[in-house]
Amino acid sequence: MFKDELIRALRQERQVSGGALARKFGVSRTTVWKAVNELRKKGYEVISSPGLGYSLVKAPELLLPDEISSGLKARVLGSNIVSFESIGSTQDEAKKLARQGAVEGTVVIADRQTQGRGRLDRNWVSPLGVGIYMSIVLTPDLKPPEVMQIPLVAGVAVVRAIRRMTPLKPLIKWPNDVLIQGRKVCGILTEMSAEIDRVSYIVLGIGINVNTPKEMLPPEIREASTSLMEEAGAFVSRPRLVQCLIEELDELYAEFKSAGFAPIRERWKELSCTIGAMARVSGAGDVQEGRVLDLDTDGALLLQTMDGALRRVISGDVSLRTI
Ligand code: BTN
Repeated sequence: MFKDELIRALRQERQVSGGALARKFGVSRTTVWKAVNELRKKGYEVISSPGLGYSLVKAPELLLPDEISSGLKARVLGSNIVSFESIGSTQDEAKKLARQGAVEGTVVIADRQTQGRGRLDRNWVSPLGVGIYMSIVLTPDLKPPEVMQIPLVAGVAVVRAIRRMTPLKPLIKWPNDVLIQGRKVCGILTEMSAEIDRVSYIVLGIGINVNTPKEMLPPEIREASTSLMEEAGAFVSRPRLVQCLIEELDELYAEFKSAGFAPIRERWKELSCTIGAMARVSGAGDVQEGRVLDLDTDGALLLQTMDGALRRVISGDVSLRTI
């Protein structure tokens, strides 16, 4: 707790004396000195000038809980943040914590995943230090069929966070892939534990290729995927992007819980490249082709197939022809 407040104080002042910090937090100057050294061990560069005090000159680019929570403006999400340098999958860890009763909004984040999972049993390539690999525990009062709206909420949050941090203009492909110039930069995976009529918890997984060089992406997805750095031509701070993402998701999730899916649906449609496009939807052993007419009020895709029939699609893999 004191460490978080110390980081905040160091961020606020260009230079602050050990004595002033000690008075502010009601601790001794030695305690301040020890805490500053702890921060240095975690990668914070803090200069101390005799007689003048401490200046924070550089914060680490690691996804450490303190770095994410310092200055975070969120009500529910991120109240508990657990981070790993390397993990199999943040989804599995978040599920474990959810089973143990983790608070809603618990965030599990890693600098690398060795067994990152995507939708439809695919892998999610998660190299060290270049992406965001994050899973969030949610416990909304939803019926199982409504859970498909959660990743749509998340897609809007990801697009908003990227637009806040970069000049890029990402769009959402149904249900929740985030694309830049038609290439995938983010994937969202939603898993849940539920009884017939009640959800006990949801684990919302978000993977973003942030500073991933093209060569780090496996050859088979290199054409269809990209990263923010590749598209923006500039390095993007991962801790700042995680903060933006948690803040956007926190706001949209609160709106979703209080006002339902209708306002989210409007936001999703504004940020989507799917409506009006020609789509090919594969899933459950069949393929459907047609024009996307709309997003239905519950989040399903409304497709007019070649024979003129109107189909509701609730799951599947979509490829668009007009991007
Ligand atoms: C997709 O197939 O598009 C979804 C990809 C989801 C990847 C994220 S990364 C964080 C979390 N942990 C995982 O193992 N998967 C999700």
